[in-house]
Amino acid sequence: MTSPDHLVLFMPSGKRGRFATGTPVLDAARELGVYVESVCGGRATCGRCQIEVQEGQFAKHKITSSNDHISPVGPKEQRYDRVRGLPEGRRLSCSATIQGDLVIDVPQDTVINAQVVRKDADQRHIERNPAISMCYVEVEEPDMEKPLGDLDRLLAALERDWGYEKLEVDFHLIPKVQKILRAGEWKVTAAVYHDSQDTRPRLIALYPGLKNEAYGVACDIGSTTIAIHLSSLLSGRTVASSGTSNPQIRFGEDLMSRVSYVMMNPDGREAMTKAVREAINTLIGKVCDQGEVSREDILDLVFVGNPVMHHLFLGIDPTELGGAPFALAVSGAVHTKAAEIGISANEGARVYMLPCIAGHVGADAAAATLCEGPHRQEEQMLLVDIGTNAEIVLGNSTRTVAASSPTGPAFEGAEISCGQRAAPGAIERVRIDKETLEPRFRVIGVDQWSDEEGFAEEAAKVGITGICGSAIIEVVAEMYLTGIISEDGVVDGNMAARSPRILQNGRTFSYLLYEGAQKITVTQNDIRAIQLAKAALYAGIKLLTDKLGIDHVDRIALAGAFGTFIDPKYAMVLGLIPDCDLEKVKAVGNAAGTGARMSLLNRDYRREIEETVRRIEKIETALEPKFQDHFVAAMAMPNKVDHFPELQKVVTLPVRKVLEDATGEAGGRRRRRSR
Ligand code: FES
Repeated sequence: MTSPDHLVLFMPSGKRGRFATGTPVLDAARELGVYVESVCGGRATCGRCQIEVQEGQFAKHKITSSNDHISPVGPKEQRYDRVRGLPEGRRLSCSATIQGDLVIDVPQDTVINAQVVRKDADQRHIERNPAISMCYVEVEEPDMEKPLGDLDRLLAALERDWGYEKLEVDFHLIPKVQKILRAGEWKVTAAVYHDSQDTRPRLIALYPGLKNEAYGVACDIGSTTIAIHLSSLLSGRTVASSGTSNPQIRFGEDLMSRVSYVMMNPDGREAMTKAVREAINTLIGKVCDQGEVSREDILDLVFVGNPVMHHLFLGIDPTELGGAPFALAVSGAVHTKAAEIGISANEGARVYMLPCIAGHVGADAAAATLCEGPHRQEEQMLLVDIGTNAEIVLGNSTRTVAASSPTGPAFEGAEISCGQRAAPGAIERVRIDKETLEPRFRVIGVDQWSDEEGFAEEAAKVGITGICGSAIIEVVAEMYLTGIISEDGVVDGNMAARSPRILQNGRTFSYLLYEGAQKITVTQNDIRAIQLAKAALYAGIKLLTDKLGIDHVDRIALAGAFGTFIDPKYAMVLGLIPDCDLEKVKAVGNAAGTGARMSLLNRDYRREIEETVRRIEKIETALEPKFQDHFVAAMAMPNKVDHFPELQKVVTLPVRKVLEDATGEAGGRRRRRSR
C-alpha cells in the first residue's frame, strides 16, 4: 500500500505541496523552495531548522492542521531540547515528519545564542535566502589505501551531504585545510558562497567543528554619512548598527567638488578611496565590538552609494561622472572579494555592490527602489531621495523611469543665510500666525514650542543657532500661506506696516524669525535659493510624469534623512513634490540602507534589482528641452501651471498676488542651475 499524500502549506511564503507520510518537514520545504536554514545537515544539533505547526481549520486552503499531523517529538529533538532548549511549540524540521495535512510556520527569528539585538534598526521582515550557506560535514579520515587529499575528501563529504558537485575552492583555504580538519577532528563547517544559479558555488571559509553563525554587513555610503548594519546571515537579525560622517568631506562638501578634487589632484582619487575604506573598516570594528562578533565571522558584505561614492569606494576614477554624458565605469552589479578592495573581514568574504541606475542615479537609488518597490505595484509611485542631487524614480509594475535633479545644497541649510545642519540648537519647525505674523517654532533638543512654558530655560541650554532643512521648507511655506511672500516668492514690503518682523534690507525685505544672541532672518535670497532647489526637483519629477504620460501620482515615498524630517504638507505647499493624497505621502527613512540589507539577506533581491534596473528608463534632465519650461513654472508656489486639488482639501492657498522683487522681475531669476 502506498502512503497517502498530505497537503502541506508553508507560511509566510504560501508555498504548498503534497507529501507522503514520513517525509521530513525540512525535505518538504526544500522541495518547494521554502527557505529553511540548516547548518548541521539534519543532525539535530544546530537548531536552525525550527518550525511551528499552526493548528486549526484553514478553510481557504482546505486544510485542517494539527500537532497530531506531525510526528511526536523524537529522541533527537529531546536531546536538542535538553542541551540547547527548544522554545514551546517549536519543532526541528529535520527530525519531525509529516503525518497528515499541515500548515507550517517558518519563524524568521530563529536565534541561537542570541546576541544583542538592535531594536531601532528597521525591523522590517526580510525573507531570507542568503548567498552564504554554512554546511557542517564529517569528513573521512585519511587512509593509506585511498590516497585522496584532505581537501578532496572534504569536497566529497560536501557533495554527499549537501549535494555540491564540483565545488570551487578559494585558494587561500588550501594551505589551511589540513590544520582546520585536524583541529575539528574531521568535523568542520564549510561556508559556501553561491550568489546566483549562473555561477558555480564556491567554498570560501572553513571552520573546525560546528560553526553555527555567520554574519554579513550592509553599508550605505552617503556623501555626508556612512551607515552600517551588522546582521546574522542565519537568523536575519541586525545585531549592531553604526554610522559616521564620510571623511571625504575634507576633500569637498558635495559630490561635484569631490570629482573636481580628483581632476585637480593627481593622488586625489587614491586619497578619497583610502579615506572611505578606512572609515568603513573602523565602522566594521565598531559594530563587531557592539555585537560581540569577530570580524572573521563576516562572510558577505553589501554596499550601496550614489555613483560618485560607488566609484570612489571601488577605486574607480569618477571624472567621467563630472560632465555629460555622465558615463559610469560600470553600471551593472559588482561582485568582488572584500580583501581585494581593502575591506577587512574574513579572508574569503565577498562583496556585492548593487547596480547603478544612471550617471546620477546610483546604487543607493536602486536599493531604495528595491525597498519601496514601485516596480512591484499597480499604483504610480514616486520615490524621491533628496540630497544635493535628488534621485527620483517613478512608475509601477508596467513601466518605471528615473532621473536626478540638481537641487543643490539649499535643503541641507547651505546657501541659506541662517541655514545649518540638523543639530541641537537648529530651528526645525515653524508656524506663523496669519493675523499677527508672529512666529512660533521648535528647536532641536528642546521639547517645548517657543510659545510654551519653560521654552526659554530649555532653549538657553542648547542655544538657538540657525534653521535646518525641515524648518526652511516650513518657514517659506508659512510665509507664502500668510501672504508675507507672493506666489512668485517676493517678500511683500507692504507687510512692514503690519509687522515689525518684516525688515527692509536695501531694495528687498526679509522676515525676522528670532532675535536673541543671534538674529535669525529669512531673506529674499534665501527664498530664491529654496525656489531654485524646489523648482529643479519638481521639474525633474515633471519630466518623468511626461515620459509616462500621467498627470498625477498615487503615492509618494520620501527617502533619506531630509525626507524623514520634512512635513509632506509643507513640501507640497511649496510645490517641492506634486499634488497627491497626503495620506499617501510617507517618509520611508533610510530606504537605501534597508534595500542593502534586503540584498544581503536574500540573493533573490539581488536578481530582482538587477533585472529592474535594466528595465528602468533613464532620463538625463540636462538634455531634456522641456526641463526649462517646467523649471520656470515650478519657481512659483506651489506651481504656476499645475493645480493641487488634493492639497487644497486640507490647506487654503492664498489668492494670487503678483509683486516685483528688487530686480523688477516677478518670479525671481529665471535661470537654469548649473550642475
Ligand atoms: Fe540542524 Fe535541524 S538542520 S537541527
